[in-house]
Amino acid sequence: MKAMNKKIAVIRGDGIGPEIINQTLNILDKIAEKYGHVFSYSDVDMGGIAIDRWGEPLPDKMLDICKESDSVLLGAVGGEKWNSVPGHLRPEKGLLKLRAGMGAYSNNRPAKIWPQLASASPLRKEIVDKGIDFIIVRELIGGVYFGEHRSETVNGTRYASDLMIYSEKEIERICRIGFETARKRRKTLCSVEKSNVLDSSRLWKKVVHEIASDYPDVMLSDMLVDNCAMQIVKDPSQFDVIVTENMFGDILSDEASMITGSIGMIPSSSLGDGTKGVYEPIHGSAPDIAGRDLANPIGTILSAAMMLKYSFGMIDEADSIENAVSDYLDAGYRTADIMPRTDEERKNCIFVGCSECGKLIADLIK
Ligand code: IPM
Ligand code: MG
Repeated sequence: MKAMNKKIAVIRGDGIGPEIINQTLNILDKIAEKYGHVFSYSDVDMGGIAIDRWGEPLPDKMLDICKESDSVLLGAVGGEKWNSVPGHLRPEKGLLKLRAGMGAYSNNRPAKIWPQLASASPLRKEIVDKGIDFIIVRELIGGVYFGEHRSETVNGTRYASDLMIYSEKEIERICRIGFETARKRRKTLCSVEKSNVLDSSRLWKKVVHEIASDYPDVMLSDMLVDNCAMQIVKDPSQFDVIVTENMFGDILSDEASMITGSIGMIPSSSLGDGTKGVYEPIHGSAPDIAGRDLANPIGTILSAAMMLKYSFGMIDEADSIENAVSDYLDAGYRTADIMPRTDEERKNCIFVGCSECGKLIADLIK
């Protein structure tokens, strides 16, 4: 592939965000050096740090930097310190504004078990051995996260509501991504909703079936979200691609990540109609371990690999990062979150911190 120049907006954020991003940038630099690309980084304040500096979680001028870049790489936002700020100023609002501002409606969250970490899964071995390799395609800029939020007091009683609203257009575009994603994999799509209770889910189910005839090669099934939560731990091997609305996807993707061993390993991509995306690990800012060099940077490192692949079309470059991560795990290196539980298994493992992890993976890029 010919050498390219790419502008990347970098959001370090709060908690462990800066540590995991620093390691990831070293790895991107290594890729740039090896393949002759130039990556230039622009710092963007978002989350708690932006509240402290600018009085709001994502000032417009910061969002503009993201929009003018070729893609956005994000660590994590939020923390105890900002828990009591008013709802519309919370660090998480910055994240929602970023996703909406970038038009990133399609969030892709893979749940795949690394063979080296199979024993870290809390599921029984016979369930894990059947295979865990599925993707959650989560709608990201609609539904209850973005519907009207209201708090009011009527006759001395406090009320609050959050509106879960979807248009058929919003449902259609994300479900098409679900079908397209399944088409490139094992051609099985499970649409997850709560159509036994919610009107928004009944519309969802109707729309997904209306467009299904455009994808005759993909097998479509429906599942209620509560059942899905159960099936993910009962028999995750049944899933290939799950497509679902924003909040269901938020909850199910945490569950799905956990059965693969650690939430610290899972990357994500969020894309709209173009090639610009937001790439972030699915874990949070983990304030309890922030600044202690304990975090696992792999979720972010793999998010950068997704950015290279999906936004920049750099397939070999992405593969070389993924291979380096695999070699690192093969060599027995483990951050605290993926350390095996038994002494027996721990014998073959080497405990490392965040910075050593990043350095080892950078060195393994061949
Ligand atoms: C995620 C996070 C966010 C979400 C929070 C931090 C707003 O949990 O990316 O899954 O709910 O989308
Ligand atoms: Mg979440």
